[in-house]
Amino acid sequence: MTGPIFAGFDGRWAGEFDAPTQQEHRLSEQLVSEFLASTILVIGAPMYNFSISTQLKAWLDRIAQQGLTFNYTERGTVGLASGKCVIVVSACGGFYSHGSMMPMDFQEPYLRGFFKFLGITDLRFVRAEGALKGELERSEGIRVAKAALSRVY
Ligand SMILES: Cc1cc2nc3c(=O)[nH]c(=O)nc-3n(C[C@H](O)[C@H](O)[C@H](O)COP(=O)(O)O)c2cc1C
Repeated sequence: MTGPIFAGFDGRWAGEFDAPTQQEHRLSEQLVSEFLASTILVIGAPMYNFSISTQLKAWLDRIAQQGLTFNYTERGTVGLASGKCVIVVSACGGFYSHGSMMPMDFQEPYLRGFFKFLGITDLRFVRAEGALKGELERSEGIRVAKAALSRVY
């Protein structure tokens, strides 16, 4: 997030934006339009430091816009992007679906919480785990993920 990106969110002032803010405004509008027009989203999400990649976070920061994808109301926040299905295809070096590292998975709970905030509750995860645990574990993780693909949609 930068000043021009954040300032560019509020289209009411579009006529007064300087050139960098205008540019960021156009990109944000495009990304939000794409997002709102979609019915199924497939997101590639490598696990970096127990969470999502910087690039994925930068996209989430663009599409979370008050008045477009969520609103604050007297009854609390309301997501404006309901009815979509989000499929997250995630790779990680260790194991988080079971075992002692489960509490360190800030990826799946974060993405579920984020999209729920926008009104989307249909999230489906495909996980390739154990990528850094050795050749056997890596191959098994990919096999499990590929098998899950046919069930996920
Ligand atoms: C900067 C960095 C941070 C990582 N952090 C984690 C982590 O916290 N937990 C984990 O299990 N794997 C971690 N990994 C391993 C990746 O999740 C794993 O290699 C995965 O296959 C990456 O997907 P990619 O090949 O699509 O980038 C990390 C890798 C990198 C490069």
